[in-house]
Amino acid sequence: MNILLAGGAGYIGSHTAVELLKAGHGVVIVDNYGNSSPEVIHRLEKLTGKNIPAYCADVRDEKAVSEILATHPIDCVIHFAGLKAVGESVRKPLEYYDNNINTTLTLLKCMKKAGVRNIVFSSSATVYGEENPIPYVETMKKGSCSNPYGWTKSMMEQILEDAAVADPELSVVLLRYFNPIGAHESGLIGEDPLGGPNNLMPYVAQVAVGRRDHLTIFGNDYPTPDGTCRRDYIHVVDLAVGHVKAVEFAASRKGTEVFNLGTGNPYSVLDIVAAFERNSGVSIRYEFGPRRAGDLPEFWANADKARRVLGWEASRDLDAMCRDTWNWQRNNPEGYRAPRG
Ligand code: NAD
Ligand code: UD1
Repeated sequence: MNILLAGGAGYIGSHTAVELLKAGHGVVIVDNYGNSSPEVIHRLEKLTGKNIPAYCADVRDEKAVSEILATHPIDCVIHFAGLKAVGESVRKPLEYYDNNINTTLTLLKCMKKAGVRNIVFSSSATVYGEENPIPYVETMKKGSCSNPYGWTKSMMEQILEDAAVADPELSVVLLRYFNPIGAHESGLIGEDPLGGPNNLMPYVAQVAVGRRDHLTIFGNDYPTPDGTCRRDYIHVVDLAVGHVKAVEFAASRKGTEVFNLGTGNPYSVLDIVAAFERNSGVSIRYEFGPRRAGDLPEFWANADKARRVLGWEASRDLDAMCRDTWNWQRNNPEGYRAPRG
């Protein structure tokens, strides 16, 4: 199949491009490089030995997206193109609603015009909200979100679901990611947060490489085994393989289906620090700070449905997640801004 990756130059999209090509699919990328770099495309071509058609465009631009769909025979779209910084979404809600909702609407309109029937969407475990018991199961009702970013995910799920009800030809797969970390084992691609990391693993990696002085752990008084929050961290390459399965599944049926992509195993912030130290040989300076607004004490996935229906499960352990993150970070201390020779 030929897959259009909207936001495909980003962290998860770039790793998915590699796994799709490896599985024999073709990929086309559209990205405005708002949170990524054209250097990603060069790295992908080097890594896969394939020529990757890539367009610099805003996915809200109907004309640009229609032209891409008219140029390439696309079987499925994967929609990664979103703004994702939770704190920023609280400060700039309109920007988040505009970008995230309108990219979705534009993609759906252009797909309909071009006769593209399948879409896979990057959703988040955040849609379960704080009301649901853990582990989260796909059959649970969605909860209330603590920030505009989360609400955009919840709304986009609803928009896609409604579109599939109205159009019996449409196939929608909603993927609820847990906490993706790690990098491709080549060290050529990885997570490169522009303007400072908000998430735990890139922060730890930047402390290790000397770009940050120390990590602040947000709270050590949670009702968890060591007092720090627990999350379901998943290797980004496992997540990428999950997308290959999701695309193939999307093409085999109609309607909407939701899948958790997680491992089902929670780790605490202190577990992550210890695992990173063990796998990098670098010690991570940290101090405890106050809780971060909106953080839940712990959550993880029930990963049974993806195993049962997609035949997918995560296979890379926490050591691999830390080893690959460190391999990427130490080879690219400034991310994509300082290309390797
Ligand atoms: P990312 O920022 O690295 O990738 C998103 C890409 O989309 C970037 O390259 C960005 O430039 C592009 N983009 C954004 N808006 C665009 C627009 N209007 N037009 C064209 N390109 C646009 O983020 P990621 O970590 O790869 O996440 C991918 C998707 O998965 C996002 O939708 C994110 O919300 C979702 N998600 C991520 C996580 C995570 O922890 N990384 C967790 C849950 C869900
Ligand atoms: C966050 C978002 C979530 C989003 C996901 C991916 C919040 C409340 N949730 O998830 O909606 O889908 O990112 O973008 O922001 N931590 C520290 N110090 C740090 C950074 C993080 O102690 O400098 C802790 C956090 O308190 C948390 C854990 O590490 O307990 C993981 O944090 P993070 O990587 O930001 O992911 P989530 O908060 O789970």
